[in-house]
Amino acid sequence: MRNEQEQKVILVLGGTGKTGRRVVERLRGRGVSVRVGSRSAAQPFDWTDRTTWATVLQDVDAVYVSFYPDLALPGAPETVGAFADLAVASGVSRLVLLSGRGEEEAEAAEKLIQSAGVDWTILRSSWFSQNFSEDYLRESVLGGEVVLPVGAVPEPFVDADDIADVALAALTEDGHAGQLYELSGPRLLTFADAVGEISRATGRRIDLVPVSVEDYTGALAAEGVPAEVVELLTYLFTTVLDGRNAQLADGVQRALGRPPRDFADYAKDAATTGIWDGV
Ligand SMILES: NC(=O)c1ccc[n+]([C@@H]2O[C@H](COP(=O)([O-])OP(=O)(O)OC[C@H]3O[C@@H](n4cnc5c(N)ncnc54)[C@H](OP(=O)(O)O)[C@@H]3O)[C@@H](O)[C@H]2O)c1
Repeated sequence: MRNEQEQKVILVLGGTGKTGRRVVERLRGRGVSVRVGSRSAAQPFDWTDRTTWATVLQDVDAVYVSFYPDLALPGAPETVGAFADLAVASGVSRLVLLSGRGEEEAEAAEKLIQSAGVDWTILRSSWFSQNFSEDYLRESVLGGEVVLPVGAVPEPFVDADDIADVALAALTEDGHAGQLYELSGPRLLTFADAVGEISRATGRRIDLVPVSVEDYTGALAAEGVPAEVVELLTYLFTTVLDGRNAQLADGVQRALGRPPRDFADYAKDAATTGIWDGV
């Protein structure tokens, strides 16, 4: 029979993604027993296949809930809520939700986590800096032109390492239950500012090319990007980026007692890894 310590597993959904893999690394570094929840994991977990949910929840005490593809999608709150109910019924006592700022659907998901009946912490995050290096904007950076339907509205990009540090604290320490942390970086940057920082860090010319929403969506559709992805990106670059999130938040400081990392430091460190060196 296993002892109590061995039975405590922390499940990290999206555990190979931008924040999840950092949470997994940190938990493993602390010697915590971790289970990765993703389609490619040893025990596959798929948000779109509920028959995969119960098995990954066995012996789990706490869950880092990173939904995919995006909490802003219609139907996402219901899916997250159904998962939370099953998690609580399976004996989970702590839920930590990765959420997004200024998104109606994300806030509906937050409410379902908050009312699930166990300890909860919400990480309501700004845009991740790592979208430029570990996601869809990397290719544009490599090509030297980041074409987006954005203007002068600034965003306080947050570093995924800061999100993971807050997640680690919320998953493993006391004092974070019932906290809604709004997580941002320490500085407001336009997309042009952000691309400028990456240009400086890499020593290469990279331009931000603003386009109309119509041109942007037209180009994506012509590349064969599925309609629902085009719709999601349009929503993120227009509605969510309409100025509603153009202010700094104090969640990193509140949760960790230290300031968040600046975008320039992210850009320097990412450049050092060679992620923008191309092929
Ligand atoms: N990106 C941002 O700037 C941002 C800002 C605020 C909030 N958020 C929120 O953060 C969450 C994660 O977004 P992200 O962009 O950071 O993605 P991400 O975590 O980098 O996404 C990839 C992860 O999701 C897993 N995954 C993909 N499809 C899945 C499926 N059907 N079922 C289960 N797991 C699946 C992947 O593993 P497998 O491929 O192995 O399944 C991988 O672990 C979203 O809910 C989003 O709303 C993002």
